Amino acid sequence: MTKPRLWITRRLSDATLARAARDYDVVVNLADQPGTAAEIIAASAAFDAIIPCHSEHFTADAVAQLDPRLKIIANHSVGVDHCDLPALHAHGITVTNTPDVLSDATAEIAMLLMLGAARHAVAGDRIVRTGAWDNWSPSFMVGKQVTGARLGIIGMGRVGRAFAAKARGFDMEVHYHNRSELTPEQAHGAVFHDTVESLLGVADFLSLHCPATPQTTDLMNADRFAMLPMGAIVVNTARGALIDEDALLAAIDSGQVAAAGLDCFKVEPGGNPKFAAHDTIFMLPHIGSATTRTRDAMGFRALDNLDAFFAGQTPKDKL
Ligand code: DGY
Repeated sequence: MTKPRLWITRRLSDATLARAARDYDVVVNLADQPGTAAEIIAASAAFDAIIPCHSEHFTADAVAQLDPRLKIIANHSVGVDHCDLPALHAHGITVTNTPDVLSDATAEIAMLLMLGAARHAVAGDRIVRTGAWDNWSPSFMVGKQVTGARLGIIGMGRVGRAFAAKARGFDMEVHYHNRSELTPEQAHGAVFHDTVESLLGVADFLSLHCPATPQTTDLMNADRFAMLPMGAIVVNTARGALIDEDALLAAIDSGQVAAAGLDCFKVEPGGNPKFAAHDTIFMLPHIGSATTRTRDAMGFRALDNLDAFFAGQTPKDKL
């Protein structure tokens, strides 16, 4: 039987590429640069399926130009804000993502960012690394203690819950806002807030775990930063779109926000050059899910979805 033709837009894990090559007539973009709209449109006439990452953008304009040959987009990501889902569905294209498998890796990075922001990781590392560490005093680099503090989580889906589980290991008092209240078994004692505003008032630490949608764009704006307790710490491992970056800078300058830990930015790759002057902003380059185990699991989950589709079944992660 002829194997379906598959385009993989980025260099995925070796195990993923080996399995894809076994089961599909696959072309991999080994140059590993983001696929442009023109490349995506051209690929749609030559491939039955694409495994893209969040770096490839399926805008309504691009989708309108896709060839009917392309039947499925099996994303190698849980976030799908790079895909215009209504346009893709209207075009008859099946879209899947990779939930679950990256929750722990992303929660680990959220924990790293929270601790690093709270305890001066950027300045501390630099002062030792550059040989500028020439003194010690009890008032030197005093940070904010995480253990026992109040944590607010916006978005209590899989990643939010994985982060809450890790935070409980630090005896944090977990509060959350979510579209719907969790069951007691899921909440593990976390306190539900039915509005973002109510949550912000108790969030000495705030971590964002909701998807980027038109409704969540600039969710954290100047008004909302002002609702945080003075000296709060803000962590974002979800999407840059959730934060008004100028408002965050103003909140840091005023001391309303003591520090931030960011893995996501409005502009990626690259980030926000205005953040560079602030040692209180601990930054990473969108590596929440970047562990060997998770990359393999994401690739396999995308392939599981493709396998189901081409076997005539409904993929588990069909959106
Ligand atoms: C995701 O899966 O959404 C991560 O941000 C990596 O793309």
